[in-house]
Amino acid sequence: MTPASLPVDPFDLVIFGGTGDLAMRKLLPALFHRYLGGQIRVGSRIIGAAREPLSDEGYRAAVSVALGNASTHTSEQRDAFLDLIGYRALDARKDEGWDGLAELLAERSDNIRVFYLSTSPELFVDICEQLARHGLNQGAARVVLEKPIGRDLASANRINDDVGRVFAESQTFRIDHYLGKETVQNLLALRFGNALFEPLWNANHIDHVQITVAETLGLGRRAGYYDRAGALRDMVQNHILQLLCMVAMESPSSLAPDAVRDEKLKVLRALKPVDANNAAQLTVRGQYRAGASDGKSVPGYIEELGDGAKSDTGTFVAIKAEIGNWRWAGVPFYLRTGKRLPERVSEIVVAFKPVPYSIFEGSAGTLAQNKLVLRLQPDEGVKLWLTIKDPGPGGLRLRHVPLDMSFAEAFGVDQPDAYERLILDVVRGNPTLFMRRDEVEAAWRWADPILAAWAAGGHAPRPYTAGSWGPSAAVALIERDGRTWHEGED
Ligand code: BG6
Repeated sequence: MTPASLPVDPFDLVIFGGTGDLAMRKLLPALFHRYLGGQIRVGSRIIGAAREPLSDEGYRAAVSVALGNASTHTSEQRDAFLDLIGYRALDARKDEGWDGLAELLAERSDNIRVFYLSTSPELFVDICEQLARHGLNQGAARVVLEKPIGRDLASANRINDDVGRVFAESQTFRIDHYLGKETVQNLLALRFGNALFEPLWNANHIDHVQITVAETLGLGRRAGYYDRAGALRDMVQNHILQLLCMVAMESPSSLAPDAVRDEKLKVLRALKPVDANNAAQLTVRGQYRAGASDGKSVPGYIEELGDGAKSDTGTFVAIKAEIGNWRWAGVPFYLRTGKRLPERVSEIVVAFKPVPYSIFEGSAGTLAQNKLVLRLQPDEGVKLWLTIKDPGPGGLRLRHVPLDMSFAEAFGVDQPDAYERLILDVVRGNPTLFMRRDEVEAAWRWADPILAAWAAGGHAPRPYTAGSWGPSAAVALIERDGRTWHEGED
């Protein structure tokens, strides 16, 4: 057994927002998978907490439905997992119920305590104060904060200050689930476990980097949150910048949490400013109109918001970013994310410079670039695009082919969901894959001027048809530089 698959010490995990979408869709199924994997021992407890007046039984029934048939298991296994689960009806802003929660936790005072705040950030401070009032922040207690941490630097600071009065930084786990994805972890292995890439990993050899996180989903049931956030706050300030950091950071001296996070922080601080002076050239914002997704016609963003709604919220963003340091000077990082795009795909493309001179007749200037493509989802894997000789007689023709390592084919296992790894990392007390406060702040310092430039510019986001790759200006953003988005080269 690898250390990562050893059982973790018994814990009590309280999920605030326990009846919410994230808890039901992601957290509880993730815990169930780890339970089936033998990592959660009897003696651990999972306690949902929310305002709904549910009994333990009622909550277990809802969880049972949420677990669905996603994994192979017996009904005994499911029942044994459900036995670990309880529920407490609580209102963060009222006192009732909190004594009961404290008494419940006191029954197993040796268990590690994890408080997962899967609620709106407005409730973080009330929940933390209640926890402190009952002494629940003491000892082996940890708090998990879901993104977004604030909507700008000032509000992020307020949240971090409020939580910081109750939990020390070492107890605070700010989750960015992209850091738990298999391919993101693999970036570390690929970059620092091989001698091959690191000598080429700089502005002398890399032409540009693309990071795409495309989704086919629209707004769904998240209008209240999403319309106040938009794509930059929802995806770029956190997930995409974290991916950029993993690509661009220097080698940490070890995998110790602060060694890794120190290096990521340096990248965030080295991002060149995008503000009112250059936002029009370096950014594109879009909002989807009616179109088609997965073969079905779908309404536009405004229609999804409902009755006569108006909104300037961007559901798509593309940005040409640059990192001002010796390793990356002059290498563009093209970032793009959007809802209602043609496919669900997240990938990082590292495009190398072309060969300096072609000896192949008639191919000068046309030799395809080497590309390293790291696919986060779907079909996690790594492809290295190379030029080879087209097999067979008839002269030396060239062909661009991928050296292809699909993780599922190579290892024959389903990749665990990011939350599985991250929740157990919290229990283990390992914050390597979580954002430190200064990282969140540095990310907002870069994002805030972009938001301010858009607000000052007074332009509505550009429309794009649902099911397309965003506004045509996003294509122009990269094509102006003589490059193209990596699309359809499966
Ligand atoms: C969340 C965003 O953090 O990530 C959502 O709030 C987005 O808007 C989701 O849909 C994407 O996560 P994944 O793992 O499905 O790519």
